[in-house]
Amino acid sequence: ITALVLGLALAASPGQVGNHVLDILNPSTSYNREVGYLLRWVLAFAAVVFVVVTGLMTYVTLKFRRTGRETGEPVQFHGNDRIEVLSIIIPTLIVFIIFGLTAQSMFKLDRIPPGAMTVEVKGWRYWWDYHYPEQGIRNSSELIVPVGKPLVLEVTGGDVIHSYRITSLVGTQDAIPGFTTRIIVTPEKVGDYYGQCVELCGASHANMRFRVKVVPQETFDRFVQEAKAYQAPPPSDPTLAKGESLFKANCAGCHALKGVSPVNPATLQNPDLTFFGNRTTLGSGMWPNTPQYLEAWIKDAPGLKPGIRMPAFPQLSSADVKAIADYLLSHKLEGLDFNFPESQ
Ligand code: CUA
Repeated sequence: ITALVLGLALAASPGQVGNHVLDILNPSTSYNREVGYLLRWVLAFAAVVFVVVTGLMTYVTLKFRRTGRETGEPVQFHGNDRIEVLSIIIPTLIVFIIFGLTAQSMFKLDRIPPGAMTVEVKGWRYWWDYHYPEQGIRNSSELIVPVGKPLVLEVTGGDVIHSYRITSLVGTQDAIPGFTTRIIVTPEKVGDYYGQCVELCGASHANMRFRVKVVPQETFDRFVQEAKAYQAPPPSDPTLAKGESLFKANCAGCHALKGVSPVNPATLQNPDLTFFGNRTTLGSGMWPNTPQYLEAWIKDAPGLKPGIRMPAFPQLSSADVKAIADYLLSHKLEGLDFNFPESQ
């Protein structure tokens, strides 16, 4: 009974990370509605089985308990064909019904709706990269998508096996190097969604988080237009000029920044920093993207996120670090803010 009550209590309360409420039954996508529908069928069968089995056990225990008035041996018999046949047929039927419902949902969820948009998702230790092949843009760590648009996320891994999960939107899909899996989902509500790698992939697996920003179509169109046209502005003051030369000397070998350091096989293995000022989080979803956190990150990233490839920069002075941080934050698509009050 304790286990039952505890199980029900846990099932009824969605998880929470920061201000993100994680709820797989949140009906904000057709995917989760379908999963919720299946779950209710399975729970309904489980409830019937539970009531019948515990009911019969209680009945038998009470009816045939020792009363002290027994005389001699009870009636001896072997087996009961009718009960045995029923106890095979009924569970088999239940399994077939659940199988049928599941297969039906799987076929339904695996159909690509017309007008779907493709985004290539690549998992690296310990962050996620996004390529929009139709729009020709790249963004790292935060996925920005329009509301109401069917999405085909083509998921793969860059180094080891990861797994991509946006709890309140859609189920899990493994990110395997050399292999592409697919997530089909239509986000139906504008908001900031929490995502997490769910395959143990190394020291910072638990820190391999991300955000999905579901934005109105106009915002997305503007994002695409500005991202495509983006030109890194020339440094407008001495601090930014210093930041740029420090960035070129220390960061450009690993990170692409359109107009400053190119996309190449090396920079493709690390987060793109082109419009870093628009990121709402830092360290792949770990902290808010503020100057304070960013400076601490540049100084000692592996101290904040164990196991990452980015080295610490103890040789940089506080002024140097501040200049790089200011420089990165100055790269921004104008008029776009992806901080949403609605968190899921
Ligand atoms: Cu990537 Cu866990």
